[in-house]
Amino acid sequence: MEKLVIQGGKPLVGEVRISGAKNAALPLIAATLLAPGTHILHNVPDLRDTRTILKLLESLGITWRRQDTTLMIDSTHLTFSEASYDLVKTMRASVLVLGPLLARLGRAKVSLPGGCAIGARPINFHITGFEKLGVTCRLENGYVDAEIEGRMQGSTIYFDIPSVTGTENLLMAAVLAKGTTVIKNAAREPEIGNLIDMLTGMGAEIQGRETDRLEICGVERLSPADCTIIPDRIEAGTYLIAVGATGGEATIKGCNPAHLPSLLEKLRATGMEIKENADTIFVSADRRKGNGKLRSVDIKTMPYPGYPTDLQAQFMALMTLSSGVCVINETIFENRFMHVGELQRMGADIRTNGHTAVINGKGADGLCGAPVMATDLRASSSLVIAGLAASGRTEISRIYHLERGYEQMVDKLTRLGAEVWKEQE
Ligand code: EPZ
Repeated sequence: MEKLVIQGGKPLVGEVRISGAKNAALPLIAATLLAPGTHILHNVPDLRDTRTILKLLESLGITWRRQDTTLMIDSTHLTFSEASYDLVKTMRASVLVLGPLLARLGRAKVSLPGGCAIGARPINFHITGFEKLGVTCRLENGYVDAEIEGRMQGSTIYFDIPSVTGTENLLMAAVLAKGTTVIKNAAREPEIGNLIDMLTGMGAEIQGRETDRLEICGVERLSPADCTIIPDRIEAGTYLIAVGATGGEATIKGCNPAHLPSLLEKLRATGMEIKENADTIFVSADRRKGNGKLRSVDIKTMPYPGYPTDLQAQFMALMTLSSGVCVINETIFENRFMHVGELQRMGADIRTNGHTAVINGKGADGLCGAPVMATDLRASSSLVIAGLAASGRTEISRIYHLERGYEQMVDKLTRLGAEVWKEQE
Protein backbone atom coordinates (compact mmCIF):
# COMPACT_ATOMS: atom_id res chain seq x y z
CA MET A 1 0.00 0.00 0.00
CA GLU A 2 1.09 3.62 -0.48
CA LYS A 3 1.43 6.42 2.05
CA LEU A 4 1.47 10.18 1.55
CA VAL A 5 4.48 12.09 2.92
CA ILE A 6 4.23 15.83 3.60
CA GLN A 7 7.02 18.17 4.67
CA GLY A 8 4.78 20.83 6.23
CA GLY A 9 5.03 24.55 6.95
CA LYS A 10 4.86 25.94 3.42
CA PRO A 11 2.07 28.38 2.46
CA LEU A 12 -0.04 27.25 -0.52
CA VAL A 13 0.32 29.89 -3.24
CA GLY A 14 -0.85 30.07 -6.85
CA GLU A 15 -3.74 28.47 -8.76
CA VAL A 16 -5.63 25.18 -8.68
CA ARG A 17 -8.29 23.92 -11.11
CA ILE A 18 -11.23 22.00 -9.63
CA SER A 19 -12.38 18.69 -11.15
CA GLY A 20 -15.92 17.48 -11.81
CA ALA A 21 -17.96 16.55 -8.74
CA LYS A 22 -17.66 12.93 -7.52
CA ASN A 23 -21.14 13.11 -5.96
CA ALA A 24 -22.66 14.28 -9.23
CA ALA A 25 -20.72 11.88 -11.48
CA LEU A 26 -21.93 8.81 -9.55
CA PRO A 27 -25.71 9.40 -9.92
CA LEU A 28 -25.33 10.75 -13.47
CA ILE A 29 -23.37 7.66 -14.57
CA ALA A 30 -26.08 5.48 -12.98
CA ALA A 31 -28.78 7.48 -14.82
CA THR A 32 -27.38 6.37 -18.20
CA LEU A 33 -29.06 3.01 -17.47
CA LEU A 34 -32.44 4.70 -17.97
CA ALA A 35 -32.21 4.95 -21.75
CA PRO A 36 -30.61 2.68 -24.41
CA GLY A 37 -28.06 4.35 -26.69
CA THR A 38 -24.81 6.28 -26.24
CA HIS A 39 -24.74 8.93 -23.50
CA ILE A 40 -22.06 11.62 -23.37
CA LEU A 41 -20.94 13.01 -19.99
CA HIS A 42 -18.41 15.87 -19.89
CA ASN A 43 -16.08 16.94 -17.02
CA VAL A 44 -16.14 13.49 -15.38
CA PRO A 45 -13.39 13.12 -12.75
CA ASP A 46 -11.16 10.03 -12.94
CA LEU A 47 -11.42 8.69 -9.37
CA ARG A 48 -11.46 5.34 -7.60
CA ASP A 49 -15.23 5.76 -7.05
CA THR A 50 -16.04 6.63 -10.67
CA ARG A 51 -13.99 3.62 -11.80
CA THR A 52 -15.94 1.45 -9.35
CA ILE A 53 -19.37 2.46 -10.66
CA LEU A 54 -18.19 2.01 -14.25
CA LYS A 55 -17.01 -1.51 -13.32
CA LEU A 56 -20.46 -2.12 -11.84
CA LEU A 57 -22.15 -0.95 -15.07
CA GLU A 58 -19.84 -3.24 -17.07
CA SER A 59 -21.04 -6.18 -14.93
CA LEU A 60 -24.60 -5.28 -16.04
CA GLY A 61 -23.61 -5.43 -19.72
CA ILE A 62 -22.80 -1.76 -20.36
CA THR A 63 -19.80 -0.59 -22.42
CA TRP A 64 -18.01 2.75 -22.08
CA ARG A 65 -14.91 4.64 -23.10
CA ARG A 66 -13.19 7.73 -21.77
CA GLN A 67 -11.57 10.54 -23.78
CA ASP A 68 -9.85 12.94 -21.33
CA THR A 69 -12.71 14.06 -19.04
CA THR A 70 -15.48 12.97 -21.44
CA LEU A 71 -17.22 9.60 -20.97
CA MET A 72 -19.19 7.87 -23.73
CA ILE A 73 -21.47 5.24 -22.15
CA ASP A 74 -23.47 2.82 -24.35
CA SER A 75 -26.29 1.38 -22.23
CA THR A 76 -28.09 -0.38 -25.11
CA HIS A 77 -27.29 -3.92 -23.92
CA LEU A 78 -28.45 -3.85 -20.31
CA THR A 79 -28.56 -7.61 -19.84
CA PHE A 80 -28.12 -8.14 -16.09
CA SER A 81 -29.76 -6.61 -13.05
CA GLU A 82 -27.59 -7.82 -10.15
CA ALA A 83 -24.96 -5.69 -8.37
CA SER A 84 -22.67 -8.00 -6.42
CA TYR A 85 -21.50 -7.58 -2.82
CA ASP A 86 -17.81 -7.40 -3.71
CA LEU A 87 -18.48 -4.30 -5.83
CA VAL A 88 -21.10 -2.62 -3.62
CA LYS A 89 -19.10 -3.13 -0.38
CA THR A 90 -16.32 -0.89 -1.76
CA MET A 91 -18.72 1.93 -2.52
CA ARG A 92 -22.19 2.30 -1.02
CA ALA A 93 -23.22 4.73 -3.75
CA SER A 94 -23.59 1.61 -5.94
CA VAL A 95 -27.16 1.51 -4.56
CA LEU A 96 -27.83 4.28 -7.09
CA VAL A 97 -28.36 1.61 -9.77
CA LEU A 98 -31.51 0.41 -7.99
CA GLY A 99 -33.80 3.16 -9.32
CA PRO A 100 -32.66 3.02 -12.95
CA LEU A 101 -32.72 -0.81 -13.08
CA LEU A 102 -36.28 -0.89 -11.71
CA ALA A 103 -37.35 1.80 -14.18
CA ARG A 104 -35.74 0.11 -17.20
CA LEU A 105 -36.08 -3.62 -16.41
CA GLY A 106 -38.58 -3.83 -13.51
CA ARG A 107 -35.99 -5.88 -11.67
CA ALA A 108 -32.91 -5.22 -9.47
CA LYS A 109 -30.88 -7.28 -7.05
CA VAL A 110 -28.34 -5.10 -5.24
CA SER A 111 -26.23 -5.97 -2.23
CA LEU A 112 -27.04 -3.94 0.85
CA PRO A 113 -24.11 -1.54 1.18
CA GLY A 114 -23.43 -2.22 4.85
CA GLY A 115 -22.03 0.42 7.13
CA CYS A 116 -18.83 2.37 6.71
CA ALA A 117 -16.44 4.27 8.97
CA ILE A 118 -18.78 7.25 9.37
CA GLY A 119 -22.01 5.45 10.16
CA ALA A 120 -24.56 2.69 9.60
CA ARG A 121 -25.67 4.29 6.29
CA PRO A 122 -29.07 2.52 6.02
CA ILE A 123 -31.13 2.73 2.82
CA ASN A 124 -34.59 2.32 4.38
CA PHE A 125 -35.83 5.60 2.84
CA HIS A 126 -34.88 4.30 -0.62
CA ILE A 127 -36.72 0.99 -0.10
CA THR A 128 -39.84 2.60 1.39
CA GLY A 129 -39.93 4.96 -1.58
CA PHE A 130 -39.72 2.14 -4.13
CA GLU A 131 -42.49 0.28 -2.29
CA LYS A 132 -44.68 3.40 -2.53
CA LEU A 133 -44.18 3.19 -6.31
CA GLY A 134 -45.47 -0.39 -6.30
CA VAL A 135 -42.16 -2.28 -6.13
CA THR A 136 -41.87 -5.49 -4.06
CA CYS A 137 -38.61 -5.40 -2.08
CA ARG A 138 -37.27 -8.51 -0.32
CA LEU A 139 -34.25 -8.21 1.99
CA GLU A 140 -32.45 -11.54 2.11
CA ASN A 141 -28.85 -12.77 2.38
CA GLY A 142 -27.62 -9.18 2.52
CA TYR A 143 -29.28 -8.25 -0.78
CA VAL A 144 -32.23 -6.08 -1.76
CA ASP A 145 -34.21 -8.15 -4.24
CA ALA A 146 -36.70 -5.78 -5.89
CA GLU A 147 -39.15 -6.27 -8.73
CA ILE A 148 -42.34 -4.96 -10.30
CA GLU A 149 -44.56 -6.30 -13.07
CA GLY A 150 -44.64 -3.58 -15.75
CA ARG A 151 -44.15 0.14 -14.96
CA MET A 152 -44.04 1.71 -11.48
CA GLN A 153 -47.07 3.75 -10.47
CA GLY A 154 -46.51 7.40 -9.40
CA SER A 155 -47.18 8.22 -5.74
CA THR A 156 -46.25 10.70 -2.97
CA ILE A 157 -43.00 10.01 -1.09
CA TYR A 158 -41.91 11.78 2.10
CA PHE A 159 -38.33 11.62 3.45
CA ASP A 160 -37.94 11.84 7.24
CA ILE A 161 -34.42 13.16 6.52
CA PRO A 162 -33.60 14.82 3.15
CA SER A 163 -31.49 11.91 1.88
CA VAL A 164 -29.20 12.87 -1.05
CA THR A 165 -28.90 9.46 -2.76
CA GLY A 166 -32.43 8.63 -1.61
CA THR A 167 -33.74 11.64 -3.55
CA GLU A 168 -31.58 10.70 -6.54
CA ASN A 169 -32.67 7.04 -6.55
CA LEU A 170 -36.37 7.88 -6.37
CA LEU A 171 -36.02 10.60 -9.02
CA MET A 172 -34.52 8.04 -11.40
CA ALA A 173 -37.31 5.57 -10.61
CA ALA A 174 -40.13 8.10 -11.01
CA VAL A 175 -39.16 9.56 -14.40
CA LEU A 176 -40.39 6.39 -16.21
CA ALA A 177 -43.31 5.60 -13.84
CA LYS A 178 -46.96 5.89 -14.84
CA GLY A 179 -48.53 9.14 -13.57
CA THR A 180 -47.10 11.75 -11.22
CA THR A 181 -44.73 11.29 -8.28
CA VAL A 182 -44.20 13.93 -5.59
CA ILE A 183 -41.10 13.78 -3.38
CA LYS A 184 -41.51 15.83 -0.18
CA ASN A 185 -38.59 16.89 2.03
CA ALA A 186 -36.28 16.13 -0.91
CA ALA A 187 -32.57 16.95 -0.60
CA ARG A 188 -31.48 20.17 -2.35
CA GLU A 189 -27.75 19.56 -2.91
CA PRO A 190 -26.42 21.03 -6.20
CA GLU A 191 -25.63 17.47 -7.39
CA ILE A 192 -29.38 16.80 -7.45
CA GLY A 193 -29.90 19.86 -9.66
CA ASN A 194 -27.21 18.42 -11.97
CA LEU A 195 -29.11 15.10 -12.14
CA ILE A 196 -32.42 16.91 -12.78
CA ASP A 197 -30.81 18.85 -15.65
CA MET A 198 -29.51 15.58 -17.16
CA LEU A 199 -32.90 13.83 -16.83
CA THR A 200 -34.78 16.83 -18.26
CA GLY A 201 -32.36 16.81 -21.20
CA MET A 202 -33.26 13.15 -21.74
CA GLY A 203 -36.97 14.04 -21.94
CA ALA A 204 -38.07 13.76 -18.29
CA GLU A 205 -40.64 16.19 -16.86
CA ILE A 206 -39.54 17.42 -13.41
CA GLN A 207 -40.72 20.49 -11.46
CA GLY A 208 -39.27 21.96 -8.25
CA ARG A 209 -35.52 22.00 -9.02
CA GLU A 210 -33.55 23.35 -6.01
CA THR A 211 -36.61 23.08 -3.74
CA ASP A 212 -37.54 20.40 -1.19
CA ARG A 213 -40.64 19.40 -3.19
CA LEU A 214 -40.05 17.63 -6.52
CA GLU A 215 -42.92 16.76 -8.88
CA ILE A 216 -42.15 14.21 -11.59
CA CYS A 217 -44.60 13.48 -14.41
CA GLY A 218 -43.62 10.02 -15.70
CA VAL A 219 -42.93 9.51 -19.43
CA GLU A 220 -42.84 6.34 -21.56
CA ARG A 221 -39.21 6.53 -22.62
CA LEU A 222 -36.11 8.70 -22.44
CA SER A 223 -33.34 9.40 -24.94
CA PRO A 224 -29.55 9.36 -24.35
CA ALA A 225 -28.01 12.31 -22.49
CA ASP A 226 -25.33 14.81 -23.44
CA CYS A 227 -24.50 16.78 -20.28
CA THR A 228 -21.73 18.21 -18.09
CA ILE A 229 -20.83 17.35 -14.50
CA ILE A 230 -20.77 20.37 -12.16
CA PRO A 231 -17.52 21.34 -10.36
CA ASP A 232 -16.75 19.50 -7.12
CA ARG A 233 -17.75 21.91 -4.33
CA ILE A 234 -16.21 19.66 -1.66
CA GLU A 235 -12.87 19.54 -3.47
CA ALA A 236 -13.01 23.34 -3.88
CA GLY A 237 -13.83 23.75 -0.18
CA THR A 238 -10.98 21.43 0.78
CA TYR A 239 -8.43 23.58 -1.10
CA LEU A 240 -9.89 26.83 0.29
CA ILE A 241 -9.44 25.46 3.82
CA ALA A 242 -5.93 24.20 3.02
CA VAL A 243 -4.90 27.71 1.89
CA GLY A 244 -6.29 29.06 5.17
CA ALA A 245 -4.42 26.47 7.23
CA THR A 246 -1.07 27.24 5.58
CA GLY A 247 -1.40 31.05 5.58
CA GLY A 248 -1.30 31.14 1.81
CA GLU A 249 -2.97 32.94 -1.06
CA ALA A 250 -4.51 31.27 -4.14
CA THR A 251 -7.11 31.33 -6.91
CA ILE A 252 -9.45 28.34 -7.06
CA LYS A 253 -10.45 28.00 -10.74
CA GLY A 254 -13.29 26.15 -12.49
CA CYS A 255 -15.49 26.11 -9.37
CA ASN A 256 -18.97 27.44 -8.59
CA PRO A 257 -18.91 29.79 -5.55
CA ALA A 258 -22.73 29.69 -5.39
CA HIS A 259 -22.45 26.02 -4.30
CA LEU A 260 -20.49 26.95 -1.15
CA PRO A 261 -22.72 29.55 0.53
CA SER A 262 -22.08 28.43 4.11
CA LEU A 263 -18.34 27.64 3.89
CA LEU A 264 -17.42 30.99 2.32
CA GLU A 265 -19.16 32.90 5.13
CA LYS A 266 -17.50 30.72 7.78
CA LEU A 267 -14.06 31.27 6.24
CA ARG A 268 -14.66 35.04 6.12
CA ALA A 269 -15.62 34.87 9.82
CA THR A 270 -12.19 33.36 10.58
CA GLY A 271 -10.62 36.49 9.07
CA MET A 272 -9.66 35.03 5.69
CA GLU A 273 -10.09 37.21 2.60
CA ILE A 274 -12.48 35.61 0.06
CA LYS A 275 -13.35 37.17 -3.32
CA GLU A 276 -15.89 35.38 -5.58
CA ASN A 277 -16.25 35.60 -9.36
CA ALA A 278 -18.43 33.51 -11.71
CA ASP A 279 -16.18 30.43 -11.70
CA THR A 280 -13.23 31.37 -9.48
CA ILE A 281 -12.62 32.14 -5.82
CA PHE A 282 -9.62 34.20 -4.66
CA VAL A 283 -8.62 33.32 -1.09
CA SER A 284 -5.96 34.86 1.13
CA ALA A 285 -4.88 34.02 4.63
CA ASP A 286 -1.55 35.74 4.28
CA ARG A 287 -0.72 36.70 7.82
CA ARG A 288 1.64 39.37 6.52
CA LYS A 289 -1.31 41.16 4.88
CA GLY A 290 -2.79 41.90 8.26
CA ASN A 291 -5.18 38.93 8.04
CA GLY A 292 -3.76 38.27 11.48
CA LYS A 293 -4.46 35.06 13.28
CA LEU A 294 -7.37 32.74 12.40
CA ARG A 295 -10.40 33.50 14.56
CA SER A 296 -12.25 30.49 16.06
CA VAL A 297 -15.64 29.87 14.44
CA ASP A 298 -18.38 27.39 15.39
CA ILE A 299 -20.01 25.17 12.73
CA LYS A 300 -23.03 22.87 12.74
CA THR A 301 -23.41 20.49 9.79
CA MET A 302 -26.83 20.59 8.08
CA PRO A 303 -28.44 19.49 4.80
CA TYR A 304 -27.78 21.89 1.89
CA PRO A 305 -27.63 24.90 1.90
CA GLY A 306 -26.41 24.49 5.49
CA TYR A 307 -22.76 23.73 6.31
CA PRO A 308 -21.80 20.49 4.47
CA THR A 309 -20.90 17.46 6.58
CA ASP A 310 -18.33 16.59 3.88
CA LEU A 311 -16.32 19.69 4.90
CA GLN A 312 -16.56 19.17 8.67
CA ALA A 313 -13.29 17.26 9.13
CA GLN A 314 -11.37 19.75 7.01
CA PHE A 315 -12.71 22.74 8.97
CA MET A 316 -11.78 21.03 12.23
CA ALA A 317 -8.15 20.80 11.06
CA LEU A 318 -8.26 24.53 10.34
CA MET A 319 -9.68 25.35 13.76
CA THR A 320 -6.86 23.50 15.55
CA LEU A 321 -4.68 26.38 14.27
CA SER A 322 -7.03 29.18 15.37
CA SER A 323 -6.52 31.60 18.24
CA GLY A 324 -9.45 30.54 20.45
CA VAL A 325 -12.05 27.88 21.29
CA CYS A 326 -14.82 26.70 18.96
CA VAL A 327 -17.55 24.04 18.87
CA ILE A 328 -18.27 21.71 15.94
CA ASN A 329 -21.61 19.93 15.87
CA GLU A 330 -21.99 16.98 13.44
CA THR A 331 -25.73 16.39 12.93
CA ILE A 332 -25.74 14.20 9.78
CA PHE A 333 -23.65 11.11 10.59
CA GLU A 334 -23.24 9.30 13.89
CA ASN A 335 -19.52 8.60 13.70
CA ARG A 336 -17.82 11.33 11.71
CA PHE A 337 -15.07 12.25 14.20
CA MET A 338 -12.61 9.51 13.17
CA HIS A 339 -10.07 12.23 12.30
CA VAL A 340 -10.01 13.58 15.89
CA GLY A 341 -7.66 10.94 17.30
CA GLU A 342 -5.25 11.41 14.42
CA LEU A 343 -5.28 15.22 14.76
CA GLN A 344 -4.59 14.81 18.50
CA ARG A 345 -1.49 12.78 17.58
CA MET A 346 -0.30 15.92 15.75
CA GLY A 347 -0.77 18.04 18.89
CA ALA A 348 -4.35 19.26 18.41
CA ASP A 349 -6.35 20.02 21.57
CA ILE A 350 -9.82 18.55 20.81
CA ARG A 351 -12.44 17.06 23.12
CA THR A 352 -15.50 15.20 21.84
CA ASN A 353 -18.77 14.29 23.47
CA GLY A 354 -21.16 12.43 21.17
CA HIS A 355 -21.87 14.58 18.10
CA THR A 356 -20.02 17.60 19.53
CA ALA A 357 -16.33 18.48 19.41
CA VAL A 358 -14.67 21.36 21.26
CA ILE A 359 -11.48 22.60 19.62
CA ASN A 360 -9.00 24.68 21.62
CA GLY A 361 -6.97 26.34 18.86
CA LYS A 362 -3.22 26.52 19.53
CA GLY A 363 -2.34 29.11 16.88
CA ALA A 364 -0.66 28.80 13.48
CA ASP A 365 2.22 26.71 14.88
CA GLY A 366 -0.07 24.44 16.86
CA LEU A 367 0.56 21.22 14.95
CA CYS A 368 3.64 19.06 14.46
CA GLY A 369 4.10 16.31 11.91
CA ALA A 370 3.48 12.65 12.86
CA PRO A 371 2.61 9.27 11.30
CA VAL A 372 -1.22 9.15 11.05
CA MET A 373 -3.83 6.89 9.46
CA ALA A 374 -6.67 7.77 7.08
CA THR A 375 -10.01 6.16 8.00
CA ASP A 376 -12.44 7.60 5.45
CA LEU A 377 -12.42 9.95 2.48
CA ARG A 378 -12.95 13.31 4.17
CA ALA A 379 -11.03 12.44 7.34
CA SER A 380 -8.02 11.73 5.09
CA SER A 381 -8.24 15.19 3.50
CA SER A 382 -8.40 16.67 7.01
CA LEU A 383 -5.07 14.96 7.80
CA VAL A 384 -3.55 16.31 4.57
CA ILE A 385 -4.53 19.85 5.60
CA ALA A 386 -3.05 19.31 9.06
CA GLY A 387 0.15 17.89 7.55
CA LEU A 388 0.52 20.85 5.19
CA ALA A 389 0.23 23.27 8.14
CA ALA A 390 2.29 21.27 10.66
CA SER A 391 6.00 21.73 11.24
CA GLY A 392 8.08 18.76 10.16
CA ARG A 393 7.13 15.51 8.42
CA THR A 394 3.71 13.85 8.34
CA GLU A 395 3.07 10.39 6.92
CA ILE A 396 -0.54 9.41 6.09
CA SER A 397 -1.20 5.70 5.58
CA ARG A 398 -4.16 4.07 3.76
CA ILE A 399 -4.39 6.87 1.22
CA TYR A 400 -6.66 4.75 -0.99
CA HIS A 401 -9.40 6.57 0.98
CA LEU A 402 -8.14 9.88 -0.40
CA GLU A 403 -8.01 8.61 -3.98
CA ARG A 404 -11.73 7.81 -3.89
CA GLY A 405 -12.65 11.49 -4.11
CA TYR A 406 -9.69 13.77 -4.92
CA GLU A 407 -8.32 13.76 -8.48
CA GLN A 408 -4.52 14.26 -8.84
CA MET A 409 -4.24 15.74 -5.35
CA VAL A 410 -0.43 15.34 -5.10
CA ASP A 411 0.01 17.13 -8.45
CA LYS A 412 -2.42 19.94 -7.53
CA LEU A 413 -0.81 20.51 -4.11
CA THR A 414 2.71 20.42 -5.59
CA ARG A 415 1.73 23.13 -8.09
CA LEU A 416 0.59 25.19 -5.07
CA GLY A 417 4.05 24.90 -3.54
CA ALA A 418 3.50 22.03 -1.13
CA GLU A 419 6.24 19.49 -0.49
CA VAL A 420 4.22 16.26 -0.80
CA TRP A 421 4.88 12.86 -2.38
CA LYS A 422 3.84 9.19 -2.25
CA GLU A 423 5.97 6.35 -0.90
CA GLN A 424 5.41 2.64 -0.52
CA GLU A 425 4.25 1.76 3.04
C1 EPZ B 1 -24.49 11.56 0.25
O1 EPZ B 1 -24.50 10.34 0.97
C2 EPZ B 1 -23.04 11.79 -0.15
N1 EPZ B 1 -22.59 10.71 -1.02
C3 EPZ B 1 -22.17 11.86 1.10
O2 EPZ B 1 -20.84 12.15 0.68
C4 EPZ B 1 -22.68 13.00 1.98
O3 EPZ B 1 -21.92 13.03 3.16
C5 EPZ B 1 -24.16 12.78 2.31
O4 EPZ B 1 -24.92 12.64 1.08
C6 EPZ B 1 -24.76 13.93 3.11
O5 EPZ B 1 -24.61 15.11 2.42
C7 EPZ B 1 -22.95 10.74 -2.34
O6 EPZ B 1 -23.65 11.63 -2.80
C8 EPZ B 1 -22.44 9.60 -3.19
P1 EPZ B 1 -27.85 10.77 3.01
P2 EPZ B 1 -25.92 9.64 1.30
O7 EPZ B 1 -28.76 9.68 2.51
O8 EPZ B 1 -26.91 9.93 0.26
C9 EPZ B 1 -29.66 8.87 6.98
C10 EPZ B 1 -18.51 11.88 0.59
O9 EPZ B 1 -17.64 12.06 1.46
N2 EPZ B 1 -30.37 7.95 6.08
O10 EPZ B 1 -28.12 12.17 2.60
O11 EPZ B 1 -25.64 8.23 1.65
C11 EPZ B 1 -28.14 8.66 6.93
O12 EPZ B 1 -27.74 7.64 7.81
C12 EPZ B 1 -19.80 11.18 0.95
O13 EPZ B 1 -18.43 12.27 -0.61
C13 EPZ B 1 -31.24 7.02 6.62
O14 EPZ B 1 -31.42 6.93 7.83
O15 EPZ B 1 -26.35 10.40 2.63
C14 EPZ B 1 -27.62 10.02 7.34
O16 EPZ B 1 -27.65 10.10 8.75
C15 EPZ B 1 -19.80 10.70 2.40
N3 EPZ B 1 -31.90 6.18 5.77
C16 EPZ B 1 -28.66 10.99 6.76
O17 EPZ B 1 -29.83 10.21 6.51
C17 EPZ B 1 -31.74 6.25 4.40
O18 EPZ B 1 -32.40 5.48 3.67
C18 EPZ B 1 -28.22 11.66 5.45
O19 EPZ B 1 -27.78 10.63 4.60
C19 EPZ B 1 -30.84 7.20 3.89
C20 EPZ B 1 -30.17 8.04 4.74
